[in-house]
Amino acid sequence: MRIDKKQLEIIEQQIQSCTLCVLASTRKTAVPGFGNMNADIMLIGEGPGYHEDEQGLPFVGRSGKLLDDLLYSIDLSRDDVYITNVVKCRPPDNRDPKSDEIESCRTYLDKQINLIDPKVIVTLGRFSMARWFPGVRISDVHGEAKRFGSRIIVPMFHPAAALYNPQNRPLLLKDFGRLPKYIDSLNLEQQGDQESKSTVEQLNLL
Ligand code: URA
Repeated sequence: MRIDKKQLEIIEQQIQSCTLCVLASTRKTAVPGFGNMNADIMLIGEGPGYHEDEQGLPFVGRSGKLLDDLLYSIDLSRDDVYITNVVKCRPPDNRDPKSDEIESCRTYLDKQINLIDPKVIVTLGRFSMARWFPGVRISDVHGEAKRFGSRIIVPMFHPAAALYNPQNRPLLLKDFGRLPKYIDSLNLEQQGDQESKSTVEQLNLL
């Protein structure tokens, strides 16, 4: 179903003027998200950093460059997906977001997910992963899809993890490489193709 751009803009405006948590007092610019409202894939990171806070756009720093490369590796660009974060305002000094801040922002993330209704959600890093995969280690489950209703959630390392530790880069590339297969299978399943239904079931689901 194609969505009404206005509805997404209303959520973005609510985020821009949000004062639900303390991050509002230190942000320069809130970062609601960016991308294609009709995307099959939504990527959810942690929270804006310095550059994102300056520009009001997600993943525009070094992690963002790597994210672009990862998308390019599967013939996508950031215009094809929707990118957002669990918290929409920069935690001071790039500290981890606190649980009450994540909770305050959750209503916005919920609205974005409901509206965009992506087939696949990729969680980037442990903060977005925790919502669907509580208590697991990213190194144990990255790249493995889990079915939630009609949607698939795929936990992945945060791109920054590959910047700090280059050994994670091929893992991220491999995990991204599996996304087209997931989308194809869900598309076929939606077309009522029984054979593909079993393909989805046979996918590497947790
Ligand atoms: N890291 C994130 O998790 N999100 C951004 O938007 C930028 C860096």
